[in-house]
Amino acid sequence: MKRHINIALDGPSGSGKSTVAKMLSEKLDILYLDTGAMYRAAACKAMELGIDTLDEKGVSSFIGDLDLSIRYIDGAQHTFLDGKDVSERIRKPEVSMAASNISSLKCVRLKMVAMQREIAASMSCILDGRDIGSYVLPDAEYKFYVTADAKVRTARRQKELRERGFEVGFDELLAEIEQRDFNDKNRDFAPLVQAKDAVLIDTSSLSVEEVAEKILSFIER
Ligand code: DC
Repeated sequence: MKRHINIALDGPSGSGKSTVAKMLSEKLDILYLDTGAMYRAAACKAMELGIDTLDEKGVSSFIGDLDLSIRYIDGAQHTFLDGKDVSERIRKPEVSMAASNISSLKCVRLKMVAMQREIAASMSCILDGRDIGSYVLPDAEYKFYVTADAKVRTARRQKELRERGFEVGFDELLAEIEQRDFNDKNRDFAPLVQAKDAVLIDTSSLSVEEVAEKILSFIER
């Protein structure tokens, strides 16, 4: 029987986490959980209801009953809100900042963290996020913190959005990435931080394959 393992992969936006996590989940034959998708879905719900994503009282009025689920279809993660597949919708550019805002609220984090812990306990998985190694799974078997220069991350994000059909200017995206970094690192509850026992990898000049190889070599060691 295979050993149950959890791998925490944290880092700021555009650090290459999700692509690397997907690749590793295939190589290791374990589940990939994109935790950012969950905060994005919560932000979509607030936007749908016309509630400001920083309004704690407003958000707490719906978050307890939020009908959010994660399902896997042909191996790919799909995010469902109120029974509808919102996997495309949560990737819209305007949802990014709203997700960063709503993720600063404790009532939101407590709900998402409980779901993430339940999934991680039930099967081996690699989770990408901001607080996985430091807060969600402090006892994860492996922890990595990936980062990259803000301009490199902006260029990656611009390319990713372009591939999805969204054209956003470089300067606008850079400003957004810097603002999100600031929000994510400075929120009071479970901020983005490198866990003390996480391996730091700067991906600025590395390909996805190289990052995945580096992580695999740590795991196999
Ligand atoms: O990884 P992403 O860009 O899809 O995440 C969107 C936002 O969600 C990000 O700005 C911060 C928040 N987030 C978080 O606070 N904790 C996580 N574990 C994952 C994402």
